[in-house]
Amino acid sequence: MSKKYLNRLSKLAIVAVVFSFTSCKEEGGLAPEYMPDMYRSPSIETYVDYGELRGNYSDTNYTNKMSARQPVKGTIHRGFLPYGYENTPEGYAAAGENLKNPIVFSDDILDDGKKLYGMFCVHCHGKTGQGDGTIVQRGKFPPIPVKFLPTLDLAEGKMFHTITYGKGLMGSHSPQLNKEERWKLVHFIRAKFMEKVPAITASVEVAVVEEAIVETVETVEEVIQTEANGH
Ligand code: HEC
Repeated sequence: MSKKYLNRLSKLAIVAVVFSFTSCKEEGGLAPEYMPDMYRSPSIETYVDYGELRGNYSDTNYTNKMSARQPVKGTIHRGFLPYGYENTPEGYAAAGENLKNPIVFSDDILDDGKKLYGMFCVHCHGKTGQGDGTIVQRGKFPPIPVKFLPTLDLAEGKMFHTITYGKGLMGSHSPQLNKEERWKLVHFIRAKFMEKVPAITASVEVAVVEEAIVETVETVEEVIQTEANGH
């Protein structure tokens, strides 16, 4: 046999093998799985039905054998409190009326808010909150219709609602900022740009509590002293 002939024969053999893999079909219209592990990972994966392959139920023994059941509709994960206002104009108005910032204002909160603003907001709203962030200046984003000014009449609940769901061209920021972070941002924007610093700050509260403690201690000491003198 010549070398050339052998070469041709081996090519033919390869074609025949490939053809045999692709041509035959199992009952139910599925081609045999050459390496089934590649289609269905042997490691247990969440919510995978091991009897199902691309919509076909090939092995009824395994059908509906899932590693975990789907959570019941309406399930909420631990530590998560749903936000009770809908993404509608009515929800926006109601949030504005009812929601108050649950975080006590303090210098630390302001610092946190500043950091978050620098990471998530400054490129649009700008360093001074006037809507002149870098992407607006470079013409990559249309001018921001809102300027954070002392004259801006905007309830903190509405601000929170907007950061949660987005508004107009601003997208939702709830996937990347938790509730606490969103409220910190509300504090920061209001204090820094809108000159609306909450009247009672945490440091004042702490000072009041400290004063009360000192007074109580002094009184107790006085009582002890008087009693000691009396005996
Ligand atoms: C991609 C640009 C962009 C980014 C990033 C962005 N915003 Fe906005 N923001 C806008 C635009 C545009 C509006 C005006 C929405 C409207 O009224 O149509 C807006 C409006 C607002 C308002 C006014 C809401 C109201 O109810 O009228 C607040 C508050 C606000 N943004 C806060 C933030 C905060 C906080 C961040 C960062 C977490 C942020 N924005 C990030 C574009 C952006």
